[in-house]
Amino acid sequence: MNVYTMYFSPTGGTRQAARILAEELGTLQEMDFSLPGKDYGMYRFEPGDVCFVAVPSFGGRVPTAALVNLTKVQAHGAAAVVVAAYGNRAYEDTLLELRKAMEGCGFKVVAAVAAVTEHSIMSRYGKGRPDQEDKMALKAMAAKIREKLGKPQSWKDFFVPGRYPYKEYHTIPLVPETDKDCRACGLCVRRCPVGAISKKDPRKTDDRRCISCMRCVAICPEHKKRVNKMLVFAASMKLKKACSGRKENELFL
Ligand SMILES: Cc1cc2nc3c(=O)[nH]c(=O)nc-3n(C[C@H](O)[C@H](O)[C@H](O)COP(=O)(O)O)c2cc1C
Repeated sequence: MNVYTMYFSPTGGTRQAARILAEELGTLQEMDFSLPGKDYGMYRFEPGDVCFVAVPSFGGRVPTAALVNLTKVQAHGAAAVVVAAYGNRAYEDTLLELRKAMEGCGFKVVAAVAAVTEHSIMSRYGKGRPDQEDKMALKAMAAKIREKLGKPQSWKDFFVPGRYPYKEYHTIPLVPETDKDCRACGLCVRRCPVGAISKKDPRKTDDRRCISCMRCVAICPEHKKRVNKMLVFAASMKLKKACSGRKENELFL
C-alpha cells in the first residue's frame, strides 16, 4: 500500500495533522499543494494507493486556492481520507466540500477526520495543538482507518457533517503589512500560495488576491511581515465564545 499526504498548509498545522495520521499506515510520501505555479496535474494515483487529503478550514470552507490545486489530480479509484484542520472554532462545511471535490477527481473517500490545530491568525485559540493528547487520539483514529481500508467490502457511504449549499465564505480580510526595513529577499514572493506578493517590491501585497493565510508572516526569516495586532485582538474578542473550550478531533468512517 502506497501512502501519500496531499496537503494545502500555509503555516504547517494541516500538514502536521495529516502526517500524524498517515504515518501510522506506512512509509509516507508528502505532496505540498500550497505552492504557486506547480503542475499539480502531474499527480496520478491508482487503486491500492491511499491519500490523506488535508486542508485547513477557512471560514468553515475549503480555501478556494486549495480546491483549485487539489482537483487537478487524477485519482483513478485510489482511496482517500479527507482531513480538515481547524483552529478550535468550527469546520462547518469543510469536510463535506472536500469530500465531494475529491470524489469528483475519482477518489474513493473512505473516511474523514476533523483535527484541531493552532489558529494561524488568533494563536491563542488551539494554542500548541496538535498536542500529546491529540497525537494519541489521531493515531487511534488512524488504526481504525487502517482496519476499514483492509475491508473494501465495508466501504459504503458514510456520514460527514456539513450542509449543501455550503455556507457563504466570510473571514476577516487581514492583509499582512511589511516593515520598512524588509530586505526584499523574495522568499514570501516564491511561497505565497496565490501569488499575491509583488516580485518587484515584496513589501507590496495585492489585497484582492491575498487570502490572509499567514504564510508570509510565518516564513519571513527576519519577521518583517505582520498583521495589525488591534484587528487580530478585536477578532479574537468577537470569536471568544465560539473558540473557547477544548474542541476534540473527530473521525467519520
Ligand atoms: C483565513 C483563515 C480563516 C480561518 N477560518 C477558520 C474557521 O472558520 N474555523 C476555525 O476553527 N479555524 C479557522 N482558521 C484557523 C485554521 O483553520 C487553522 O489555523 C489551520 O491550522 C491553518 O492551517 P495551516 O497551519 O496548515 O496553515 C482560519 C485561519 C485562516 C488563516
